[in-house]
Amino acid sequence: MTSTLIIGATGLLGSEMAKASARHGDRLHVLVRPATAGNEERVGPLRELGATVHVGDLDDYDSLVRAVGQVDRVISSVHVDSASEMTLVRAVKDAGVSRFVPSAGFGLDFAAAAPGSIAPLDIKRAVFDAVKAADLPYTVIYTNGFFSTWVATLGDLTRFGSPVLPPDEVTLYGDGNVPATFVSEKDIAAVTMRALDDPGAVRREIRIAQNRITQGAMIDLWRQVSGRSPRIMHQSAAELDAMIAAVPGLGLLRAFWIRGETALETATPEAGTFYPDLNFETIESAFVAMA
Ligand SMILES: NC(=O)c1ccc[n+]([C@@H]2O[C@H](COP(=O)([O-])OP(=O)(O)OC[C@H]3O[C@@H](n4cnc5c(N)ncnc54)[C@H](OP(=O)(O)O)[C@@H]3O)[C@@H](O)[C@H]2O)c1
Repeated sequence: MTSTLIIGATGLLGSEMAKASARHGDRLHVLVRPATAGNEERVGPLRELGATVHVGDLDDYDSLVRAVGQVDRVISSVHVDSASEMTLVRAVKDAGVSRFVPSAGFGLDFAAAAPGSIAPLDIKRAVFDAVKAADLPYTVIYTNGFFSTWVATLGDLTRFGSPVLPPDEVTLYGDGNVPATFVSEKDIAAVTMRALDDPGAVRREIRIAQNRITQGAMIDLWRQVSGRSPRIMHQSAAELDAMIAAVPGLGLLRAFWIRGETALETATPEAGTFYPDLNFETIESAFVAMA
């Protein structure tokens, strides 16, 4: 039996990874921060999956080496700054594993996204460069947009975390006719499990580019499925640029809806072609569940 450590298993994507890993029959290990370890509501579901819980922190190198040293494979699913990720890269190198899936990939394909336009992506790119420089047996999985972040908000990232989703009021960016691609967190975990078992995925990047749709068409689909009609506000590309100057993280909106970077064809193999037996959830089925 293979053992897999998930760092970030209490999070949005990491919790799906933990469920998929347990279903897959792995010996599941998770690393949780000291403050989270005492929170039964957050850690209880992981124990119920049979996880061995290690207490540690990405900023605590010794805790990482201790946990990584007990497993074959590591998945990182965290939102962190570059320094913390670099500590993990060092720990994975020193402890040695057969596979490492860094969180650097869970976003846009580096081959499609223009460097310098999205601050968080530039951090991820630097982490991936460090992973390659350390010659780790990585698999990087580019996801493009998550359902919970982009589909549930009808493509308006600024609504993420709102109490009512899909929202009753949504901003349409640009002309609303630029395609983007989306995937459920469950399917990201399924692709990851598949890639972990695939020796051909070592030192490879895989991109998930499923559910291609424009923001305008996504809103129309929601209207059809739910019978609800969200109020539409418009923001031009120039107005969005001004907003990004104040809040750099919103560069993602420009990448998705103005530049179409999640729908660009790149040389990176696409998951559905690479693993043709996988069936991906559709936006329509997600909307039916949300309606
Ligand atoms: N493309 C997209 O649409 C999209 C959308 C969302 C996320 N993402 C990407 O997906 C990845 C995961 O994001 P997420 O939204 O699932 O994250 P999340 O829900 O914010 O969860 C983050 C996880 O990391 C843990 N964590 C944070 N700092 C840590 C530290 N210093 N040491 C150890 N654990 C730490 C948190 O633990 P605690 O329980 O202790 O807080 C939590 O389990 C990131 O790379 C993110 O950029 C992409």
